[in-house]
Amino acid sequence: MKVLVTGAGGQVGQDLIAALADRGHVVHGSDVASRPMAMTARDIAWHHLDVTDLSQVRQVLGRLRPDVVFHLAAILSARGEEDPGLTYAVNQGGTHNLLEACREYRIRQLMFTSTIAVFGPGLPDPVPDDVSLRPRTMYGVTKVAGELLGEYYAARYDLDFRAVRFPGLISATLPGGGTSDYAPLMYVESLRCGRYEAFCRPEARIPLMYMPDGIRALVELANAPRERLKRCVYNIAAFSPAASEIADSVRRAVPGAEITFKPDPIRQSILDSWPDALDDTCAREDWGWQPEYDLEAMTDDLVPQIRQLIGVQASK
Ligand code: SER
Repeated sequence: MKVLVTGAGGQVGQDLIAALADRGHVVHGSDVASRPMAMTARDIAWHHLDVTDLSQVRQVLGRLRPDVVFHLAAILSARGEEDPGLTYAVNQGGTHNLLEACREYRIRQLMFTSTIAVFGPGLPDPVPDDVSLRPRTMYGVTKVAGELLGEYYAARYDLDFRAVRFPGLISATLPGGGTSDYAPLMYVESLRCGRYEAFCRPEARIPLMYMPDGIRALVELANAPRERLKRCVYNIAAFSPAASEIADSVRRAVPGAEITFKPDPIRQSILDSWPDALDDTCAREDWGWQPEYDLEAMTDDLVPQIRQLIGVQASK
């Protein structure tokens, strides 16, 4: 199968591309940025693509005619609050451009990454799929709109649009500009410099997931028989530790790591607006979703990987 990934240089994209190539797909990466150093070893075609430019999007999709597009390109929540206008252009305009080009070139399937940031305060915990969506960030607003637009294109043009609402994702590849970044940074900075000052309160609690589970969710949802899916957009969940519990888990694996907390008012208020936990019953029932990693299993798997990465970087 021929697959195009937008935002392929980002935290999810780098791991997704590797997973799709390992499964034998013909993978094309695209991003407004150049190919990350870590990906130069892999023989994957790379295309410059600014998703805010419809003519570029049409050109790339028209030339490649992929079977499936994984549309990941987006500006995350914390960076989004620094430049809401650009966030609207990239997240909202970019998604509309991808949907339009998919319609025009009759691309079979568009996979979309939504987020816990679609939710606002005052919802039940764990929060089910169908609740009132009143996000407090521009990132959340554009992801709600992306979900709705995708559902519209599915109903109106029969585009096979599918999406997961990702928890904050943790991996050895650092994210950029997310509010859940405190979690991966606890691991990376503890291993790199022995200390990390988190920008949240120790009690901060949001849904989180280890990247291999997140990648598997995307691939499994893309492959699920369409007749089994009762909806386009699914909550998926793994674990919801308090920030202090993540710090304890890091200290267990990295003895001597000094993790302290100094809440940043803007990012803490974003965290406060998100739910503690997600109810993913629909994903479990419709396509058999199940996470493999809990917090401790993730720590055991992740720490040696980061150690190796840091060793490789240090020896260059
Ligand atoms: N990781 C994202 C963020 O922090 C949430 O989906 O913005």
